Amino acid sequence: MVDRHANAGNHAGAQVPACPLAQKAAEFDAFSGPYQLDPAEALRWSRDQLPVFFSPKLGYWIVSRYEDIKSVFRDNILFSPRNVLEKITPATPEAMEVLKGYGYAMNRTMVNEDEPVHMERRRALMDHFLPEHLETKQEMIRRLTREKVDAFIDRGRVDLVDAMLYEVPLNVALHFLGVPEDDIQVLRNFSVAHSINTWGKPTDAQQLAIAHDVGRFWQYAGKIIEKMKREPNGTGWMHETIRKNVEMPEIVPDSYVHSMMMAIIVAAHETTSLASANMFKTLLGHRQAWEDICADPSLIPNAVEECLRYAGSIVAWRRQTTAPARLGDVDLPEGAKLLIVQASANRDPRHFEEPDRFDIYRDNAVDHMTFGYGAHQCMGKNIGRMEMRIFLEEISRRLPHLRLAEQEFAYMVNTSFRGPEHVWVEWDPDLNPERTRPALAKGEIRFPVGPPARRDIARKVCVREVRREAEGVLGLTLEDARGRSLPNWSAGAHVELCIGPYDRKYSLCGPANAGTYELAILLEENGRGGSRYIHRTVKPGMELRLRGPHNLFRLDETATGFVLIAGGIGITPILAMADRLKALGKDYRVHYCGRGRSAMAHLERLERDHQDRLTIYAKDAGQRADLESLVAGLPAGCQIYACGPERMIAALEDLAADLPEGVLHVEHFTSAGPGLDPVNEKAFEIELIDSDLTLRVAADETVLDALLAAGIDVPSDCREGLCGSCEVSVAAGEIEHRDRVLSRAERLENRRMMTCCSRSVEGQSLKLA
Ligand code: HEM
Ligand code: FES
Repeated sequence: MVDRHANAGNHAGAQVPACPLAQKAAEFDAFSGPYQLDPAEALRWSRDQLPVFFSPKLGYWIVSRYEDIKSVFRDNILFSPRNVLEKITPATPEAMEVLKGYGYAMNRTMVNEDEPVHMERRRALMDHFLPEHLETKQEMIRRLTREKVDAFIDRGRVDLVDAMLYEVPLNVALHFLGVPEDDIQVLRNFSVAHSINTWGKPTDAQQLAIAHDVGRFWQYAGKIIEKMKREPNGTGWMHETIRKNVEMPEIVPDSYVHSMMMAIIVAAHETTSLASANMFKTLLGHRQAWEDICADPSLIPNAVEECLRYAGSIVAWRRQTTAPARLGDVDLPEGAKLLIVQASANRDPRHFEEPDRFDIYRDNAVDHMTFGYGAHQCMGKNIGRMEMRIFLEEISRRLPHLRLAEQEFAYMVNTSFRGPEHVWVEWDPDLNPERTRPALAKGEIRFPVGPPARRDIARKVCVREVRREAEGVLGLTLEDARGRSLPNWSAGAHVELCIGPYDRKYSLCGPANAGTYELAILLEENGRGGSRYIHRTVKPGMELRLRGPHNLFRLDETATGFVLIAGGIGITPILAMADRLKALGKDYRVHYCGRGRSAMAHLERLERDHQDRLTIYAKDAGQRADLESLVAGLPAGCQIYACGPERMIAALEDLAADLPEGVLHVEHFTSAGPGLDPVNEKAFEIELIDSDLTLRVAADETVLDALLAAGIDVPSDCREGLCGSCEVSVAAGEIEHRDRVLSRAERLENRRMMTCCSRSVEGQSLKLA
């Protein structure tokens, strides 16, 4: 147990920010006010202006941006999870006495264990979480869910939490763990006490009552273990844990078994119950999304991910530095305690376009941080997903006319677990569809275990207008097929058009945030066929599918000046950037190179809107950009953004080789290779050190495909070696790099690879860390 005030020493050496940010940091209160109302909104100022700050009231450093949070999760050596289950509000001496009386000795479990023990333990206890094992749980979850729905379907009004969302996850958890389903109500009270004890701020008087509950919970967990020990052939994960305790006591010691029994009951069901309550509240509050799901249940897996992003049940987690560390611009001392606010990461516009929009068609929703990330990422994430999908599928099929009742939502006050205590819903039972179609009660869709497949996620759009933008360049205006407004996007963003057999990425060129999208598509006679197909077939009124928007070419709006360089059709993101910089009143110059004026898209608009900031280089008029002097003459504090043909980008990269990191930003038109050619590719094996698995990567699949198929979540975005999101560490084996992300030096190091495109050399096996 740690005294919070003793830890205030962590503040020593903190960079004291200038007012009024210092004031906001000083006022930040994790237990009342804005954070308890809406943690993501409460930290908007921090995401924008001070992404790592010290909260004197809490004695923790607060971390609010996506990339910072991901890098903390990623490095569990420097950022140890050892404080994850510490009481965030220290116990009073009286409460400590009470706990002592019950022999309470909460120790390391999985979630707060350091390496190397943690990984050894995780590997030893992994089997039950693998997709083939989880597959067998679908029927049990569906049966439990149906029993509950059957019991209330004719009532017309119910609290979904009490009627189903609390008990089903608890029963599923007990079944998965192999724990007898003895006393649901007792367990409910215990786990609330454990949550408040660990993440809440009980008053001194409450501390005493909670200490008694926690103490009894501890003893109860001990009794369950004794009971389970008497059934050596029992099934379930805790039985497996108890057997491993006998086989390898050094990795799974007694203290672990007892602590885990207490922690897992909360980890496995409280998280899922709250996430499910958030999900129904969110979806019923966004009626269009709800109706879309009722009409097309294939949207359910991604809708669940978007709910976990938009309103996740774990909003903040903890870490502690094991050595002095630098995070963003902030130096952290050794021993610094961090509250990493996943709810804030999940709304970070640097990672998610228009993050405050609830959008079940968002194809990177699965990148949310609600399950954590890295070595400790939630082991039960695919059980949680499975439950939430079944709940949503059953209820949306059987009660599509469900609506939220008038109510005030109440939440337990704490730093980390979030979800409404009740979700009252109403409907007219006379309109239940199964009264006229009884077969509906038994319908079901079985979604594969694991994250949703990206290829299944796309929004429907309609071609509003087709025009000739320049010689060989087709201009398209796209609108939502149901007349809604398409999501906002930031300068540099692109979308992926799915048309016929082709999926092709195109930058958005504006005008920004008009509710429709404009693209300019160059006909590439010698390309792979996508642009030819589009030029030939697209007509006004046609319906297409589209993924995104995404931004992998983001403007750093804090720079003092900007040089924008476009070659040919590379003008599309550059135009959007120029518009944005003009709107911001920034200092910028646009250099636009092309074959000749007739082939240069958007010239008129550029000349009208960017006038003397624009320089045009038309090759047929003998004009050429002098890239060397553009780079050499770059004033300090300025940044370059360039998009164009590979030759131009390679020349700029060479010229800028000595500039500091982050000054030159480029966007490639294409990936390095044309994708997989199974005739020439070789299959190979990958050995996953963390999970003790060996997987085969077939000639016609990528490492990323193989990892996802084995239930290992690796984030991915572009899937063609352009964005860097699918990177993994490589411990041994030679890599054939096919990405555009790593520098020459990084390739030579042979320590990192992009799993969406890079492979092993000549079918050798690779060891991934
Ligand atoms: C760890 C969230 C469901 C078992 C975690 C962590 C989070 C989390 C945030 C810590 C991750 C980190 O430190 O990087 C959730 C959410 C769930 C959920 C939001 C439901 C929506 C479950 C279920 C189970 C489970 C159903 C078990 C049946 C675990 C375990 C760990 C863990 C064993 C520790 C993993 C380790 O440290 O290696 N979970 N969880 N979780 N969760 Fe979950
Ligand atoms: Fe973008 Fe692999 S997903 S580099």
